[in-house]
Formats: sequence, C-alpha cells, structure tokens
Amino acid sequence: MKKIIVLTGAGISAESGIRTFRDSDGLWEEHRIEDVATFEAWQRNPDLVIDFYNQRRKQLYEVKPNAGHLALVELEKNFDVRIITQNVDDLHEQAGSCNVLHLHGELKKVRSTINQDLIYELEGWELKKGDLCEKGSQLRPHIVWFGEAVPMIEPAMELSAEADIFIVIGTSLNVYPAAGLVYYVKPGTPVYLIDPHAEMLSGVKNITVLRKKAGLGVPELVRQLMESGF
Ligand code: OAD
Repeated sequence: MKKIIVLTGAGISAESGIRTFRDSDGLWEEHRIEDVATFEAWQRNPDLVIDFYNQRRKQLYEVKPNAGHLALVELEKNFDVRIITQNVDDLHEQAGSCNVLHLHGELKKVRSTINQDLIYELEGWELKKGDLCEKGSQLRPHIVWFGEAVPMIEPAMELSAEADIFIVIGTSLNVYPAAGLVYYVKPGTPVYLIDPHAEMLSGVKNITVLRKKAGLGVPELVRQLMESGF
C-alpha cells in the first residue's frame, strides 16, 4: 500500500465550529499567546491558563468531525494513511482515523508538572487547581506551549520522509518545527495543499494547491486519489 502522510492544522476543524488561531476571528485575536500559551504564563497566572484550556475542552465535547475528517478515514481503504496533526482536538480519532500523531499535545489529556511522562486522560472538561498527579504535583494541560520542546517532531520527520503522497490541510504554516515537515518529503513526491488561503510553497516541486475549505476540498481530493489507481 502506498503511504499517504497528512499534515493537518486548525483549518480542518473550522467547519466543526472550532476557531482557528490566525484567521480574522481567530483565537489569537482575543487572547495573547504570552498570557495563555507559554510556560511563563502558567507560572504567572495558572488560573487564566487553566480556564483558557477548560473552555477549549468544554467546547470539544460539543462538536463533531466534519466531511474533511471523515474523508481521510475513507482514504484508509486504499492507502496506508498517517495523520500528523497540530490540532489538540480529537476530531480525527472521533471520525475513525487509525494513525494520528499529535504534535502539539491533546486537550483531553493532562500531565504532571514535575514529570512530563505522567500523562492522564482527564475525566470531563474541567481541570481544577488542586488536581494532582500521583507524585502530588499540580496537573497542567497536555499542550506543547510556545518555547517548549516538541517531543513528537522526530517521528513526524521520519514519517514525512516516508511519504509517497503528502497532503497539507488547513494550516497557515506559521509555526515551526511543524511548518518545516514538508521539506522532509522526498524530492518528486506529490504534495497537495488544501486551504482557502493557501499560498505556493517555495522550494516544493510537484505541488497542487486546492484553494477550498476542507469540507469540500478533502472529499474531492480523496475521491480523485481513490480513483487514481495510485
Ligand atoms: P492557523 O490559525 O495559524 O491557520 C489556520 C489555517 O486554516 C489558515 O491557513 C486558514 O486559511 C485555514 N482555514 C480556515 N478555515 C478553513 C477551512 N474551512 N478549511 C481549510 N482551511 C481553513 O492554525 P495552525 O496553522 O493550525 O499551536 O496553527 C498552528 C499552531 O499555532 C497551532 O497548533 C497552535 C497555534 O498557536 C499551539 O497552540 C502550540
């Protein structure tokens, strides 16, 4: 089976009702990254940080995967599909995708503040001050904040280098190292970009750009690939 690597960002979940970060109505218009998405913010004002992610988590229990997520599941019938997502929602898993690697963490998980390997599923949406890990330290959101290491980037780079086809969906490609993954793809590999505001990527050959929303563009590309005999 040919291997398809898919890199997704906030745009694939937009039509499910989850706000992106950098669009005009994006989350970073309303919240400052340095107030809610850095370790310093957590040290300065953990209540604000906890509340920010509690609101995101609460909403996640109210939304569903959309046609974009579902089409990627369909693709698994003919291809070995591996998803690398920058998203902290679990809509790919809810849709039924089998292989999902989360680069920036997962909203429904929390972790210890003294041992990053102590990771737990949070019951319900609300993390509270005083919720402790088994070693007795405060639990924090299982999110990779700005300035923190991205532990899953190595396997993501390896996967990208194995791609027979590489698909990028709904990301502004503003945040590194995720945005650099496309440059690990073997030269000549077909690359597809689905995003209503997509721009050409310099230095990437064999690229096809679909300036469409994921809910329309992903099913369209999936149909095309399923019929291609690739
Ligand atoms: P951005 O908000 O930066 O970019 C969202 C992209 O989705 C833009 O390019 C939009 O054009 C596109 N988009 C909007 N609606 C869409 C739709 N219906 N279908 C397809 N595309 C659509 O989000 P990311 O690139 O995912 O990290 O942001 C990367 C990281 O920055 C996030 O993981 C998050 C953020 O800060 C952390 O918080 C660590």
